[in-house]
Amino acid sequence: MYLKIYDQWRFLIIGLAFFLVLFGCQSANYPIDFEQLGEDERIVIRFSHVVGEDTPKGLAARRFAQLIKERSNGLVEVQVFPNGFLYKDGEELEALLQGDIQMIAPATSKVTSLIPEWSVIDLPFAFNSYEEVHQYLAGSAGQDLISKFDGKGLRMLGVWDNGFKQISNRDHPIYDPKSLQFLKMRIMPSDIIHKQFSSLGAIPREIDFNILFHHLESGDVDGQENTLSNITSKNLYLLQNYITISNHGYLGYVLLMNNQFWEELPDHIQVLITDTLKEVSEWERETAHNLNAKKLKELEACQCIDIYHLSPEERRSWAEEFQPVYDYFIERFGTKYIEALPKYQR
Ligand code: SIN
Repeated sequence: MYLKIYDQWRFLIIGLAFFLVLFGCQSANYPIDFEQLGEDERIVIRFSHVVGEDTPKGLAARRFAQLIKERSNGLVEVQVFPNGFLYKDGEELEALLQGDIQMIAPATSKVTSLIPEWSVIDLPFAFNSYEEVHQYLAGSAGQDLISKFDGKGLRMLGVWDNGFKQISNRDHPIYDPKSLQFLKMRIMPSDIIHKQFSSLGAIPREIDFNILFHHLESGDVDGQENTLSNITSKNLYLLQNYITISNHGYLGYVLLMNNQFWEELPDHIQVLITDTLKEVSEWERETAHNLNAKKLKELEACQCIDIYHLSPEERRSWAEEFQPVYDYFIERFGTKYIEALPKYQR
């Protein structure tokens, strides 16, 4: 008799628990803690990038991973591999296409090997502000560039800013473009950046971001161009005596996912990723802008490097020097992408 009552209670409790789980499943998207599942039962997104964790991209990648984990109760895990630990500059795009990793955020310059038209973004003095870049990408030329990822096995999920590039070197101050002559300059892989320096008599050399410090240290190259957050995060400024705040080129990132992986994700996970990235992208942009401004103040305060700011007139005369680079772009891709640049819309 006692056993029967005990059994009735037991079934009641199990039934109630089952009902709660079922009810919970319908009332919230992810009521269960999926962290206990094995890696093959969860959705794992390996996100590889080449910069430090204290950079705009590094910070945003971690925030994205954190929010996705919380919002999916551990069902989706974004594993972030910073500093090129997993794949270096020249390797990560190939690894993504092969499906060895699922997500990367390379600088736009680094996708020009796959889609050369993206090098329009590298044209010197093409943009004066972040807003101009965002508007360009939202317009028809930008949308055309974005659509070029379709059919390449890639899904583009957004753009993150880093900042505008500055020019540093070890040998002498750069007040005008001609002073770049004969300087060996590290560049990202982009024909337009190559042309930007070679047209002035400088000697451009493609070098992976992660080993740039050693190449500057050994004197293989004399200088480089980059954003202040990148220059400081890798201590590059310690090997350079001069920096010109030229803001001559935009450095931002395209968020790319392997398209087959994306297509196989359940719809609600795609929505979760899209919504979360939208939110993180807004945060990333603000973080990037603030971080670069903060790094400039820190460099000014440290008095460890000679800083020269181009005036608005100097920017205008520098921009004129780069007409051959624009002509080179037009020879290859016509005028469509160039004409849509804000400087030709004013
Ligand atoms: C990055 O910001 O991802 C690296 C940029 C560079 O290679 O200079």
